[in-house]
Amino acid sequence: MSDAPLQGRVALVTGGAAGIGFALASGLGRRGAAVVIADLQGAEDAAARLRAEGLQAQGIGGDVTSEEAVSAMVGAAEHDFGGLDILVNNAGIYASLTPKPFDELNLAEWRRVLDVNVIGTFLCCRGVLPAMQRRGGGRIVNISSGVAFKGNPYMAHYVASKGAVVSLTRALATEMGRHAVLVNSVAPGFTLSENVLRNPMLVAGVKEPSLRNRVLGRDMVPDDLVGAVCFFAGPDAAFITGQTLVVDGGAYYH
Ligand SMILES: NC(=O)c1ccc[n+]([C@@H]2O[C@H](COP(=O)([O-])OP(=O)(O)OC[C@H]3O[C@@H](n4cnc5c(N)ncnc54)[C@H](O)[C@@H]3O)[C@@H](O)[C@H]2O)c1
Repeated sequence: MSDAPLQGRVALVTGGAAGIGFALASGLGRRGAAVVIADLQGAEDAAARLRAEGLQAQGIGGDVTSEEAVSAMVGAAEHDFGGLDILVNNAGIYASLTPKPFDELNLAEWRRVLDVNVIGTFLCCRGVLPAMQRRGGGRIVNISSGVAFKGNPYMAHYVASKGAVVSLTRALATEMGRHAVLVNSVAPGFTLSENVLRNPMLVAGVKEPSLRNRVLGRDMVPDDLVGAVCFFAGPDAAFITGQTLVVDGGAYYH
């Protein structure tokens, strides 16, 4: 296999300035893709870190819940790198959540999580379609979560949002096949991203149980997700669409 299976491809990674998104942007870049990192903050600094490693990268600030911002992200890819082939919908609200019983979650919390995790994913998928059609096809990888299958407690809005991402992946795969746009999803287990490590309630409540329930008995880190996402983005997945791959060290068998 080529060391650079994504050479000549252009990838947009939302929420790519830190944590899992940054690891994915870096992994795509190391496999040859030019990468546009989009995030609420820190996107340009993150892209500069990749450029310092000799990778092709640009950063753009923007909110995935804004149609104008999504259109600017796609425009940046086409302007700076000549097109867009790969979208990784990684932006999401997770690391900042405070675990709570479902009847203590208020409407504003539900709406915010669904807005970013589901509607943001939809807007990005819709936003990239014309650019991917101009390239004759493309790949979309949506970041869901293992919680969608396990129904973890104390974050019902988040669990529901990530279940929606799995279902959206299937519906979009069906509709977008005729455009040669393949849509798949990766569902991570509990991952020690830098933002998760800044949330003591999440670490205290989820780290130990996750480790106990995982057959590969170690903590999961952002780099553990790079192979699966790059696989879906690359030539070896050319006949795979509508699928969700759980990457969690063997906690849930999907
Ligand atoms: N860390 C985990 O245990 C875990 C497990 C399963 C799934 N996930 C998913 O992986 C993804 C990344 O998670 P993470 O752990 O790196 O932490 P995170 O929640 O800090 O990462 C999200 C990134 O998205 C950005 N972002 C948030 N809202 C945005 C918006 N409206 N527009 C643009 N960017 C926005 C943030 O600035 C951040 O860089 C999320 O979708 C999360 O739900 C994480």
